[in-house]
Amino acid sequence: MTLRSYPRFITLEGGEGAGKSTVLTALRDVLASQAHDLVVTREPGGTPLAEQIRGLLLDTHHEPPTTEAELLLVFAARAQHVRETIVPALERGAWVISDRFTDASYAYQGTARGGDMAFIGELERRVVGIAPGMTLLLDVPVAVGLQRARGRGAADRIEAEREDFFERVREGYLARAKAEPARFRVIDATQPAQDVATQAVAHLREWIGANA
Ligand SMILES: Nc1ncnc2c1ncn2[C@@H]1O[C@H](COP(=O)(O)OP(=O)(O)OP(=O)(O)O)[C@@H](O)[C@H]1O
Ligand SMILES: [Mg+2]
Repeated sequence: MTLRSYPRFITLEGGEGAGKSTVLTALRDVLASQAHDLVVTREPGGTPLAEQIRGLLLDTHHEPPTTEAELLLVFAARAQHVRETIVPALERGAWVISDRFTDASYAYQGTARGGDMAFIGELERRVVGIAPGMTLLLDVPVAVGLQRARGRGAADRIEAEREDFFERVREGYLARAKAEPARFRVIDATQPAQDVATQAVAHLREWIGANA
């Protein structure tokens, strides 16, 4: 079974503090101003149950999940998100922008945690089944992203990882982008937020022009 790619499904990826949520606001404005039906969502999360799973994943006060438990929780949340939120929206013709999606599992649970990539691929095919048409990867050196993220307050369980973990996350994302150059747009996110947003919006406009 191969993945079904939806042109109107766009994802934002990048490490902690890369600026995904900041860029999302600019993309939302573009689509909203063109009166497109738009669903903005995020992972882990995007449905009430999946948001509860997010809480379990990011919680720092209780027993940490093992690598395998973390992987399965992430995919449990994604299964719910895909069936309940993303696919229904795409099927009615809406645009969907998600702050993170399956690429994040390859980068975090795969490359960074050393999870089994073939198993992640199997979960992607059997549990997720869909892929974004375009993915914007905000690439930033780890120290820069962490400084931005930590400026926001207490670290969650993932944010509290060591720097070498995030170096592997970054490598994992760049490897994904290299393997699928037609889907990915890599943006240098060390630039001022306004410039990052301008480039992301330009990619979006070009994509809408080709796929509206
Ligand atoms: N290009 C930029 N230059 C400087 N600061 C930025 C830039 N983009 C975002 N910021 C700031 O860095 C912080 C993190 O940005 P943001 O929350 O958008 O990152 P994120 O990728 O969504 O992080 P997370 O992975 O933790 O959700 C915010 O305070 C934001 O205002
Ligand atoms: Mg964010």
